[in-house]
Amino acid sequence: MSDTPITADAAWRALSDHGRVMADVRIDACIEDDPDRLTSMRHTIGELTVDCCKHLATAETMSLLCAVARAADVEALRDAMFAGECVNTTEQRPALHTALRHRGDARVCVDGEDVMPDVRAALDQMRAFCTAVHEGTRTGHTGARFTAVVNIGIGGSDLGPRMAVAALKPFHCDQLQAHFVSNVDPSNLSDTLSALDPATTLFIVSSKSFGTKETLTNARAARRWLADALGDDAVAAHFVAVSSNARGVAEFGIDTEHMFPMPDWVGGRHSMWGTIGLSIALATSFDHFELLLQGAYEMDEHFRTAPIEANVPMLLGLLDVWYRNIHGLQTLAVLPYDHHLTHLPAYLQQAMMESAGKRVRKDGRATCMDTSPILWGQPGTNGQHAFHQMLHQGTTVVPCDFLVAMSSCGDAAAQHLDLVANCIAQSEALMRGRDEARVRADLAAQGMAEADIDALAPHKVMPGNRPSTTFIYPRLTPHVLGMVVALWEHRIFTSSAIWGIDAFDQWGVELGKQLALGIRPMLDGADDGSKARDASTAGLIDLVRQHTEK
Ligand code: F6P
Repeated sequence: MSDTPITADAAWRALSDHGRVMADVRIDACIEDDPDRLTSMRHTIGELTVDCCKHLATAETMSLLCAVARAADVEALRDAMFAGECVNTTEQRPALHTALRHRGDARVCVDGEDVMPDVRAALDQMRAFCTAVHEGTRTGHTGARFTAVVNIGIGGSDLGPRMAVAALKPFHCDQLQAHFVSNVDPSNLSDTLSALDPATTLFIVSSKSFGTKETLTNARAARRWLADALGDDAVAAHFVAVSSNARGVAEFGIDTEHMFPMPDWVGGRHSMWGTIGLSIALATSFDHFELLLQGAYEMDEHFRTAPIEANVPMLLGLLDVWYRNIHGLQTLAVLPYDHHLTHLPAYLQQAMMESAGKRVRKDGRATCMDTSPILWGQPGTNGQHAFHQMLHQGTTVVPCDFLVAMSSCGDAAAQHLDLVANCIAQSEALMRGRDEARVRADLAAQGMAEADIDALAPHKVMPGNRPSTTFIYPRLTPHVLGMVVALWEHRIFTSSAIWGIDAFDQWGVELGKQLALGIRPMLDGADDGSKARDASTAGLIDLVRQHTEK
């Protein structure tokens, strides 16, 4: 694997030259000019169709992008990741989330040792626990069945399960409701607990490190809430932990018998496939959780074996590079036309921006390329009445990802088709736009005077030529969700490989955490060191201190 930036390679120069040519091309012309477009740019993996036809890309573009992937050795990097090699070089560890959902018989080794027996043992432990909770043989301290499970965690120990539990609402079991507490803002915990009964509430303290301040603060407050109602003896029956830090779990006061282990070789933002997914299995069933893993595994197999030209996560990662680096586009919108995917944009924000928001290459040299786009979005059709105006007529082009199920998991079939129609229409409108001649003809047909048309027409013109991908599938099942999320993970891996960065570390989050530790005692006067800080920071600290001292 080369240490030379891809920009020094002939394959990149060819892509750059082609980018200049494509600046004058229209997406709708690409579709019209290519009778094979649906075959070449629309991909099907199992139940999932990924329509890339509405991209500013020709067959030549895709072939040049694939050449860039070859020059960057993306396939070798991918194989190293699957093989458990140390791909997270700054933290000196593998990134083996694919092992957590590995369904085959093959060994997956780290330092020569097969990790699969431990992976399977953790899944067995989760299955047994879910069955006991669902059947009521594992109860709270008073013998009452659990009716609520509260996952206390943040970042990767929150966003994945939170997103998946919401996404799988139609598959929820009747007797147990899942809740998520992540923010150190005390309102998050108190708002959640206010509706719950301590006797029937189970807490999962989810933290790989078991050192994350927010999580431990919330977990302590939850323990107080429970002990105040049921006594200290009740805590053991109501608290379990997911962590790789057995000592931290024990110090907190949770018996390690009630701990679900998390291997060191899985990163937080890729951890929902293992024990961090416990709340998903509890909210649905362990069988549904396994279907989620199965979907992800099938996507892994596709990513691992398909040639670059037919490898959908790779092609999407390459298109991300195309827009970010060749066209200079700064953001990427994720627009699920699915109310249950409300939390998908937030989940993908961490997946993309914590992975690829880097400014140096693996070897520590500054990258000469822009890296992570800003990922944002929210479900349609709500977004249409909020920010789509900017998508259609703003001065910034935003590539969009649409996701939609062809039929609803509920029974309002006709209303669901209203949603689908809107989704398809948005991608069409973004691509086609509306030119001035058409706008003027429409206004004239409405009987508008020429002078009024002159004034209004520019405001109604939509430039179009705005690219998008559409993910479409029969229903949002656990299996489909697993495929979609794994596809995104591999897409981010691909673009990060081209950028030459470590996609598995997150050093940038450390400084703020450290500073907060120092600021905290200054706020209640326990430490008087604010004068050593800059005037703005010291002023803010003083303001809070004066307020709290009143
Ligand atoms: O602050 C970033 C981070 O380290 C994430 O990468 C991680 O998902 C999150 O914090 C939570 O960490 P932990 O599971 O160790 O509490």
